[in-house]
Amino acid sequence: LNQVLFKNPNEPPVVFHWFPFIGSTITYGMDPPRFFKENRAKYGDCFTFILLGKKTTVYVGPKGNDFILNGKIRDVCAEEIYTVLTTPVFGKDVVYDCPNSKLMEQKKFMKIALTTEAFRSYVPIISDEVKSYFKRSPDFKGQSGIVNICPKMAQITIFTASHALQGKEIRDKFDETLADLYHDLDMGFTPINFMLHWAPLPWNKRRDHAQRTVAKIYMDTIKARRERGETGAQDIMYHLMNSTYKNGVRVPDHEIAHMMIALLMAGQHSSSSTSSWIMLRLASRPDIMEELYQEQIKNLGPDLPPLTYEDLAKLPLNQAIVKETLRLHAPIHSIMRAVKQPMPVPGTKYVIPNNHVLLAAPGVSASDEQYFPQPDLWEPHRWEKDHPLAPSMVRNPDEEEEEKVDYGYGLVSKGAASPYLPFGAGRHRCIGENFANLQLQTIIAETVRMFKFRNVDGSDKVIGTDYASLFSRPLEPANIYWEKRDKQ
Ligand code: HEM
Repeated sequence: LNQVLFKNPNEPPVVFHWFPFIGSTITYGMDPPRFFKENRAKYGDCFTFILLGKKTTVYVGPKGNDFILNGKIRDVCAEEIYTVLTTPVFGKDVVYDCPNSKLMEQKKFMKIALTTEAFRSYVPIISDEVKSYFKRSPDFKGQSGIVNICPKMAQITIFTASHALQGKEIRDKFDETLADLYHDLDMGFTPINFMLHWAPLPWNKRRDHAQRTVAKIYMDTIKARRERGETGAQDIMYHLMNSTYKNGVRVPDHEIAHMMIALLMAGQHSSSSTSSWIMLRLASRPDIMEELYQEQIKNLGPDLPPLTYEDLAKLPLNQAIVKETLRLHAPIHSIMRAVKQPMPVPGTKYVIPNNHVLLAAPGVSASDEQYFPQPDLWEPHRWEKDHPLAPSMVRNPDEEEEEKVDYGYGLVSKGAASPYLPFGAGRHRCIGENFANLQLQTIIAETVRMFKFRNVDGSDKVIGTDYASLFSRPLEPANIYWEKRDKQ
């Protein structure tokens, strides 16, 4: 009744709920994409729901994506939302624990470290890590077997990312102390911590201890590398060790350490979820896995030489697997911003008041029939030109010049009005996109060289999604049947 009597006509409609503080927290939390879809059908593209007492306004579709992700810095703020969660895990003075202008400089340092030359050196590193992982893992002994693929992909992701981005010394420490420490850090990176960051949660003590210990490991490594007078390395840590802020201050060692944690956490959850989805999708479509193998034979030669960075560009289906998997399984389903002053929504009568949180959900348009014919079908071939299921309104970077803008970390596309934005847009856009693509494509290419996958029951089913952690991922156990190509 309250909602009907006191509704402000300039505010978006509020999703019906029975209890004031809880509002729609439970239905949203259980299955966010379904919650968006159902309420969009009832209320339109822009609506408000109550998330733990907070008025949260969702605006879906390409216009909504643009409105939120390209919001002006005086209108929207990311750090206000994320800092309670990220600062205890990453550490002080980086990412959301500093002014946005400093984050932009930090992103710039990281982005410019990711050169073509660096990428060229990463492909063999990642290839070797994948091959050696499968060779030494007891779960892949013998000719065939069944494995819960998610923990395997999580390990492959951390070994490949740490080796390429942080150097061999750090990578080797993952076989010793770092794996457990990152596990403790992870425990502090959950939705519970978002809600109860003020509470003395028992696992937060371990999180704080892990943060200090990991940061010290990085700082000691930095010191040792400096003392050795190392030159010419291609990892991001090395690059940050030689970076200077615009005000002339060199990036301090504790900030480099904290950025290393932030990078690994940002990349780990999203890439390992995506690589698990890829393997599960391939198990549900062994015909596509075979096509991928044949694509390598045809385009790289029958002997399958060691993979290079240049080779990845010759494997369009391999690339499309990543694109199509991110379309249906983007690990970040909700991107949030605090509203800092009333924001009129162009073309509508709505004004979003400054006590609201804005929520962008690019996954909604990525699975909308209006842009992707048969949206629920995982079909990597749809990314081929002129395919009958080809998307509409998704820009092809080869075809037209697009307007670009620089928020301080290099040029990015100006318009976020796209239905397909798995890496976000605007000033908080991902800087890891190219690395993630390279890492995932290399992992796929090496895996199809070694294995044939299928579902344990031989069907084409895919498992459901776990939304209980911050990054969505497959429900576990996500078992697949594997078989080696080479007889051993
Ligand atoms: C930001 C997705 C991999 C580093 C983002 C955002 C998205 C995203 C959606 C925007 C968040 C927001 O606007 O609040 C992904 C996906 C990945 C991936 C889907 C893999 C499949 C990586 C990797 C790295 C990385 C590998 C590091 C090498 C970052 C950083 C930001 C970011 C530093 C900026 C945060 C900000 O400015 O607020 N990513 N990411 N990401 N990502 Fe990624």
